Amino acid sequence: MQRLAVVVRSLYPNGLAVVALALAVGASFPVRASEVLAREHNCLNCHHVDRKKIGPGFKQVAERYAKQKDAAPKLAEKIIRGGAGAWGAVAMPSNPVSNEEALVLARWVLATK
Ligand code: HEC
Repeated sequence: MQRLAVVVRSLYPNGLAVVALALAVGASFPVRASEVLAREHNCLNCHHVDRKKIGPGFKQVAERYAKQKDAAPKLAEKIIRGGAGAWGAVAMPSNPVSNEEALVLARWVLATK
């Protein structure tokens, strides 16, 4: 118990710095945050980042739409509604994500190439 108190006391002065660092890292690596989001929303049950699973690999998606300027909002809409035909006969079901989350996920997918 006493030992724990010492550890906590010696860690505490750096607590704020650690939080600030975590925020800074989070802000400069939104890509990582989005991978967590993709995991949370079960996207990775059907998608691998680097190769086909049930759906296309996210890198393949990123390569296909690399030159398309409005790709992010279009993909965001498809993520929300689901659909088939772009990669094969298997359909993506609709996904329970908000508009903002869908856009973050679409941008992340497009950044995986
Ligand atoms: C049940 C399986 C499944 C889940 C869960 C799933 N997908 Fe898909 N996804 C697919 C399939 C299958 C396709 C191919 C659809 C097609 O051919 O049009 C696809 C296509 C896509 C595409 C490309 C769309 C296009 O028009 O080129 C993106 C981007 C995508 N998924 C992102 C996501 C994200 C982000 C999530 C999580 C919120 C997710 N998917 C969850 C199966 C899934």
